[in-house]
Amino acid sequence: MESISQRLMRNAAFAEIYEHLWRPTFTRLFSLGGRATEDYDRALRAYLSRPGDRLVLDVACGPGNYTRRIADGLTGDGRCIGIDFSAPMLARAARTNAVDRAAFLRADAHAIPFGDNTFDVVTCLAALYLIPDPLPVVDELVRVTRPGGEIVVFTSVATDLTSLPGVQRTVGLSGFRIFDEDTIVERLRAAGVVDVEQTITGQGQYVLGVKPAPVMPA
Ligand SMILES: C[S@@+](CC[C@H](N)C(=O)[O-])C[C@H]1O[C@@H](n2cnc3c(N)ncnc32)[C@H](O)[C@@H]1O
Repeated sequence: MESISQRLMRNAAFAEIYEHLWRPTFTRLFSLGGRATEDYDRALRAYLSRPGDRLVLDVACGPGNYTRRIADGLTGDGRCIGIDFSAPMLARAARTNAVDRAAFLRADAHAIPFGDNTFDVVTCLAALYLIPDPLPVVDELVRVTRPGGEIVVFTSVATDLTSLPGVQRTVGLSGFRIFDEDTIVERLRAAGVVDVEQTITGQGQYVLGVKPAPVMPA
C-alpha cells in the first residue's frame, strides 16, 4: 500500500507548492531551530551550480528545483537531467524549471534508464527517505556515475531527538524513514565509493563521495 508521503508526491496541488513553500520549510525543520541545514544547503547549491562542462543526473528531482540550479551553472556541452516517477512533479518541472541545459524524464530510481559510468555528478536530494526500498537506489546512483565522478545525497539521519522512544515509528507511519548514521555511508563504501564525507546538520545528513577511477596497469 502507498504511504501518505508517496501519495503526496503524486499529488498535483502538492507539486505546485513544493518548491517555494514546502521545501524551504522542510529544510528549516531539519535544523529544528538552528540554520545548519539551510546554510549547508545554500553552500551545496553553490557548489553544484559552479561553472563547468559536466553531465549531471538529478535523481528524484521533484519539480526540478535543483535540476535548474545545477543546469544554470553548466557550460559547454553540460546538461543536467532530472528523473522522477511523479507525473505532477515533472509537469511542474516542465512548466517552471525548463531551462536550456535541463531535461526531465519520467523514471524509477530503482532502474535508472542510463548506462553504467555515464554521469560526472549524480545527486539524490531529499528523496531516499521516501523510498520504501532505498538501498538498491544508492547502488543505482553509483552505477551510473562515471569513474572519477561524484555522488551527492541529502537524506535523514537518526539523532538523539529522533531516537527517542516512539519517534521513528510515529514518523514512519507517514512513510518517512530515518536512516541510522552509518547506513548510507556504508552502502556507498560497499559499492566502491571512496572519499566519503558525511555532514550531519540537525536531523539531516549530506553525504558526498567519489567513484574511483580504475587503476591502469603499469
Ligand atoms: C521531496 S521530493 C525531492 C525533490 C528535490 N530533489 C529536492 O531536493 O527538493 C522527493 C521526490 O522523490 C520522488 N520519488 C520517490 N520515489 C521515487 C522513485 N522510486 N523513483 C523516482 N522518483 C521517486 C518523488 O516523486 C518526489 O518528487
